[in-house]
Amino acid sequence: MGELSKRTRDLGTENAFVVLGDVNQLLAKGEKIISFCIGQPDFPTPDNICNAAIQAIRDGHHGYTPSPGIPEIREAVAKFYTRTRGVQVNAEDVVVGCGGKPFIGYAVLSLTDYNAGHEVIYPNPGFPIYKSQVKAHGAVPVELNLRESKGFVFDLDDLKSKVNGNTRLLILCSPGNPTGGVLSKEELAGIADIVRPYENLWIYSDEVYSGLVYDGEFQSISAMPGMQERTIIADSASKTFAMTGWRIGYAANKALAPAFTRWVTNTDSCPAHPNQWAVVEALNGPQDKPLEMRDIFLQRRDKIVDGLNQVPGFQCLKPGGAFYVWPNVTEACKMVGAENSEELRKRLLYEAGVAVLADVHFGTPVVKDGWHIRFSYASSFEAIEAGLQKLQDFMKKNTR
Ligand SMILES: Cc1ncc(COP(=O)(O)O)c(C=O)c1O
Repeated sequence: MGELSKRTRDLGTENAFVVLGDVNQLLAKGEKIISFCIGQPDFPTPDNICNAAIQAIRDGHHGYTPSPGIPEIREAVAKFYTRTRGVQVNAEDVVVGCGGKPFIGYAVLSLTDYNAGHEVIYPNPGFPIYKSQVKAHGAVPVELNLRESKGFVFDLDDLKSKVNGNTRLLILCSPGNPTGGVLSKEELAGIADIVRPYENLWIYSDEVYSGLVYDGEFQSISAMPGMQERTIIADSASKTFAMTGWRIGYAANKALAPAFTRWVTNTDSCPAHPNQWAVVEALNGPQDKPLEMRDIFLQRRDKIVDGLNQVPGFQCLKPGGAFYVWPNVTEACKMVGAENSEELRKRLLYEAGVAVLADVHFGTPVVKDGWHIRFSYASSFEAIEAGLQKLQDFMKKNTR
């Protein structure tokens, strides 16, 4: 058999899916596992949205659509961005794809050339697909460390030292996965000041958790003076509307919309037609359900943060958004004789029946900040309570 391409060999993965495979194997064997490892809302998609999709099927919306989406969804996204980001977005600047994820690859492919030394800066710890796409497409990955001491935001001086004439793309993710950290308006203004002098530098603003901000309003870098033109605003229906499996995401940028449209034509042709109608309803219809879900996530955040801070060896900051917490478990590792967070994670899964992810699943551990594990609190209050109890029991039993 011939060799696979370097591109394919460089392609990474999302380890949440690998750990999920282990969890499913344990569940199939009858083990009781409380899982905090998957990043998707545990709520059903609201009824009005499901009904819109059913109606679309009955109305015969079965065929291909234009690659960037039906006019109604592009219009709905443009209005949604205009109302939630504080910038004027036009429907022709919006491209709809099969989730938010594909736009990460489309952006890297559209803005960097293979082996040309084009650099892409992205948050570390961060969503693993950033690095995977950057490497596979022959660009240079540049990690920007998030600091626990800064509430899981990076140091602006650190960003300044990493940006240069070869930097083509800066990926921001706020609220962030895996830390839940949120960039403030002041920090976004500081980032804009650093980016502004570099003509060829674009920003990919991953805003898939924009609907899950707990303190104050969501802020987008696109609203900073001079930033909209160079910012790809990327969001999706997945998290805000509990629609992960429907696979609808949307990106907006005037200059790049035609390029993204060609990528969609070359890959998926178009996102699923009835699902586009469902998202028209999600964006234009009543917002009580998504707001209700957000309020429940907020209560869960408070519950899990308080509970984790009572587990010996765990220290957990209260994040401002998304549905993740990223407690520091350096002390817990020492107490139970685990060499690092990955060893602790495995022991929590196989000995305590609690499934989480660890630093290694989100990049290069930030050495000075110690070890962390990620909990997704997209699970019921009962599961959170039971999981916290299992952690307490595990620490009690295993502390040396
Ligand atoms: C930061 C981040 N970006 C993008 C995505 C992809 O979302 P989607 O389901 O819209 O493709 C995720 C999903 O977990 C994510 O955490």
